[in-house]
Amino acid sequence: MTIAIIGATGLVGQTMLKVLEERNLPFTNLLVAASDQSKGNTVAYNGVTLTLVSVQSALNAKPDIALFSIGAELSEFWAPQFASVGTTVIDNSSAWRMHDNIKLVVPEINAKTLTPEDKIIANPNCSAIQLVIALHDLHRHFGLDRLVISTYQSVSGSGQSGIDQLKNEQSGIAGEKFYPHTIHENALPQCDDFSDDGYTKEEWKLINETKKILNDNKIGVTATAVRVPVIGGHSESVNITLSKPAQLEEVAHILKNTAGVVFLEDSYPMPLNAYGSDHVFVGRLRQDHSHERSFNLWIVSDNLRKGAATNAVQIAEYLIANKINSKALSSALTTDGQPNSL
Ligand SMILES: NC(=O)c1ccc[n+]([C@@H]2O[C@H](COP(=O)([O-])OP(=O)(O)OC[C@H]3O[C@@H](n4cnc5c(N)ncnc54)[C@H](OP(=O)(O)O)[C@@H]3O)[C@@H](O)[C@H]2O)c1
Repeated sequence: MTIAIIGATGLVGQTMLKVLEERNLPFTNLLVAASDQSKGNTVAYNGVTLTLVSVQSALNAKPDIALFSIGAELSEFWAPQFASVGTTVIDNSSAWRMHDNIKLVVPEINAKTLTPEDKIIANPNCSAIQLVIALHDLHRHFGLDRLVISTYQSVSGSGQSGIDQLKNEQSGIAGEKFYPHTIHENALPQCDDFSDDGYTKEEWKLINETKKILNDNKIGVTATAVRVPVIGGHSESVNITLSKPAQLEEVAHILKNTAGVVFLEDSYPMPLNAYGSDHVFVGRLRQDHSHERSFNLWIVSDNLRKGAATNAVQIAEYLIANKINSKALSSALTTDGQPNSL
């Protein structure tokens, strides 16, 4: 079993290495790839030094699973090539998420839909993952009529360039600007580029991906995405309107028992505490007194872990455990076609 990390030097790629160290995936080879400029450099994995190869070399090795985090344009170019040699690609970019025949997967919610034919699997946007983890059980029990979301997104969500701009500005160093304005001591109501209708692409990702993951196009979703000078961890203020009436206590009970959620009653979650954790933290649950089926929530999670790397590794775990990726399936068969344990 060979796993490849494509984009292993990036923030998400580095976090994938950490998450793989922490979990017991049964792979024997780990390939690490990044841009040609990084070829020959090294990254650390579990005390071992791994040499970076080019993406082409990783493709030539036909890995069983490739965890991609190199951005949308490069993913559009490379992912189909890996898929065509039998690799299952789990992609962190926005390239494939809204394609009709590509599954957008949060394992706690919809991993069961995966089949060996899914050679490219999309990992959702970081803000969407923490939102749907918090809401999927409420959606199942009561239905969701409407979501009004405001995000407070950390600079690590923009990759290393976002962190560099904030740190440079904090230290008074002139450097490259990733954002259109100063981010230090500021809040930018712009994540990603603007669409023609005045929403940003990040806001559209939240709207569209939420409906796709929850498999419910009837949910009304609107969002404002804001970049804040926090290094890691995204926060979301969310007003939800349920389809069926529910008491505050019932909503709290569901949240306490939702897979992946840590529900805080006596304190509230903050990005500093969520940083480094795989959980989605939910707090500040309140009845919205202006509407009997509406509630307010505050949702926080580490965008690099559950919002990206951990979710992708969990998808890989699911594929392996359920012998879904076809290469794992063929290596799990003995000559008489009977399954071996991997
Ligand atoms: N940051 C987050 O919170 C987050 C969350 C969810 C999804 N994502 C998505 O994950 C992807 C990566 O994000 P990131 O935050 O890790 O960005 P990043 O820190 O900027 O890392 C980018 C990675 O892409 C590699 N790369 C750049 N040009 C390349 C090329 N021509 N060929 C091969 N590799 C190349 C870089 O390698 P070099 O070091 O060699 O340049 C680096 O490993 C993006 O699609 C992003 O939207 C990010």
